[in-house]
Amino acid sequence: MSVGEQGLRDLVARLVELEVAPIVQAGDPVLRSGAMPFDGQLDDAELAALLALMTRTMHAAPGVGLAAPQIGVPLALAVIEDPGPLDEETAIARERVAYPHRVLVNPRYEAVGEERVAFYEGCLSVEGWAGVVARPRTVHLTGLDERGNVLDEEVSGWPARIVQHETDHLLGVLYLDRVETRSLATGAAAARWASPPHPHAAARALGFVMPSGDAQGEP
Ligand code: NI
Repeated sequence: MSVGEQGLRDLVARLVELEVAPIVQAGDPVLRSGAMPFDGQLDDAELAALLALMTRTMHAAPGVGLAAPQIGVPLALAVIEDPGPLDEETAIARERVAYPHRVLVNPRYEAVGEERVAFYEGCLSVEGWAGVVARPRTVHLTGLDERGNVLDEEVSGWPARIVQHETDHLLGVLYLDRVETRSLATGAAAARWASPPHPHAAARALGFVMPSGDAQGEP
């Protein structure tokens, strides 16, 4: 589906009236079509209002990232913010640190090095489910921020996972495309397996193999 520029501005104008936007669920083509690069289709005020809505929606969910297609807007924009983990063991195991609010415009990433790390993750557009995804531990992130400043940096650990997940959304990719399918869990099982710092117990119980070269070790 292609949304004309005026259609896009009308859509955004309607959405930003909302306190929180409905989150599109897997199966909606907007999550699969790939987002259009942002190229001034919205003026500064419209863009700021859209990013504020995305941030409110992410906070309300709650989530640590939200891509514009997840609220039905096919633009390559994402917001990220992670308050950090509740416990130190999880922080260390997942290299999860508090990550301040930021905006990604037209982001791209490339793996840095060979190391992959595998953890449970979920998605606001795949409500109720969680699954293990092996991802590069470190990525080179490029793109722009909301003021048009160039992003060119290395991101590692849990923030790198969030950056990859949100950038994938803008390419029409869901974590389900990369998931270890035997790890998939929903409801109480999702909470049970996604809560521990490592997915090793889930791997044994559900019968999947952690990626080779896993440097996390057995707990
Ligand atoms: Ni997601």
